[in-house]
Amino acid sequence: MDLGTLLSMVGKLGQYGSTMFRYKGLPLPIIVDTKLMEKVENFATRSDDVFIVGFPKSGTTWLQIALSMMYSNWGTCKRSKKGRVPVLDIPSLPGVEGHDKCVKASSPRLMKSHLPFDYFPKQAKHDDLSKKCKVIYVARNPKDSCVSLFHMLRGYHFLQTDDSWDHFITDFIEGEVIYGSWFQHVTGWLENSDKVDMLYITYEQMKLDFPSVLHMVANFLDKPVSDETIEKVSEACGFQELRRHGKDKVVIPKVFYDSKKSPFFRKGIVGDWKNHFTEKQSQEFDEKVEAQLREKGIHFVYELD
Ligand code: A3P
Repeated sequence: MDLGTLLSMVGKLGQYGSTMFRYKGLPLPIIVDTKLMEKVENFATRSDDVFIVGFPKSGTTWLQIALSMMYSNWGTCKRSKKGRVPVLDIPSLPGVEGHDKCVKASSPRLMKSHLPFDYFPKQAKHDDLSKKCKVIYVARNPKDSCVSLFHMLRGYHFLQTDDSWDHFITDFIEGEVIYGSWFQHVTGWLENSDKVDMLYITYEQMKLDFPSVLHMVANFLDKPVSDETIEKVSEACGFQELRRHGKDKVVIPKVFYDSKKSPFFRKGIVGDWKNHFTEKQSQEFDEKVEAQLREKGIHFVYELD
């Protein structure tokens, strides 16, 4: 199916004249609608569900590929398309596994979501343990997240904007980008972590020592794996490995994403923000974001030695 047919199926790009749709104030990709979001809020969770959640560009795809390799029995992952994990909050489209796939899949389900805490399925926050799924929340320092999102929006056919970098930083800080405010996303999940069964990890931890992160995840899931498997999975999920094996085409079909404009596996480093932010932009960003994080006792690593 070509892009034109797909977009006419989605049928909204022209209608809204924008790449974003709003649900209860939250900016979302244009392929999402109110009906879908209502279904997401009322999604029936199961006690053995596992969600990878994070603001876009936090390293969620890296982790999803690793977890799909680490355990072979996910009802949501096809052996033939290793690494593809359905996303709860996007519609199922040709070549894209979304909400319907999550609903229909057998247990255990590995799923992904980019939603802020308030929009996540109500049952996940329920006291009833039979419905309490597990959430692995991945966060990345906001400057690298901002840079990575800026580039990604150039690759997605239905999300493209002509925002300049300077303008984009302001939109990012003000939450005028898909999935809203990075700051509210991270603080929202952290401040409500006692209401869900959640493990918090960061992209920077993953970069520093991916095998240790996978051990932490295995403990959290209560699904032990051998050191040897973790070693193998870590190696297979190295940045260059994923790039070389064309994993971008597995996780995001070509019809949606033009990797010539911006490769999905773009740089994969901590600190690329230094190649984008001027000193003034960095200072203003620190005043508006980093200072508030510090006030809340949340710390990020902005460079690795
Ligand atoms: P960059 O654009 O900075 O390269 P998400 O999957 O949540 O959208 O995150 C995408 C970011 O994770 C991209 O960042 C991508 O390159 C990076 N990434 C993906 N796989 C990676 C890996 N194996 N090692 C390091 N970074 C990785």
